[in-house]
Amino acid sequence: MALLTIAKLGNPVLRQVAAPVDPDDIGSRAFQQFIDDMLETMHQADGIGLAAPQVSRSQQLAVMACPGENGFPQTVLVNPRIVYYGPHQAETWEGCLSVDGLRGKVVRPTMVRVQGLDRHGSPLDFEATDLFAICIQHELDHLNGKLFLDRMTDLSTLTQLDEFDRYWKKEHATVI
Ligand code: NI
Repeated sequence: MALLTIAKLGNPVLRQVAAPVDPDDIGSRAFQQFIDDMLETMHQADGIGLAAPQVSRSQQLAVMACPGENGFPQTVLVNPRIVYYGPHQAETWEGCLSVDGLRGKVVRPTMVRVQGLDRHGSPLDFEATDLFAICIQHELDHLNGKLFLDRMTDLSTLTQLDEFDRYWKKEHATVI
């Protein structure tokens, strides 16, 4: 496996709309290797989600995993789409491996229904809630050239990491 270089804010690849993956390619050794490399890169960077455009590959693929009590299982999404948003919304502190050192509050629906393909090309259709739902929306935004900064309705919450730890961490807010 290999660690991939993470594209940072300002890299145009983060602003492109990603192309669909050809389902016939999913089973190839190269694509499977790429998925494993993305998972390793995400874990190494202490992230809970990573989308292919973040490693400069503009394709509709995202990986995510968050171990622990309020976490969610490892998930690989190919050509995903959200087909339903739940009626309730929550405010979450978000950060991004492509946006170094910043966090900001974003309001998103707390439930989504997702369809797509898994890493074997099999159809997926499931509902996700809470942190899992937020992470899915954040990663799918990457596939559409969007960053959490675009989703912030109140830029006054934009916070550097040290200041987040000092002033805001005690809110016990969920952090993505
Ligand atoms: Ni991100």
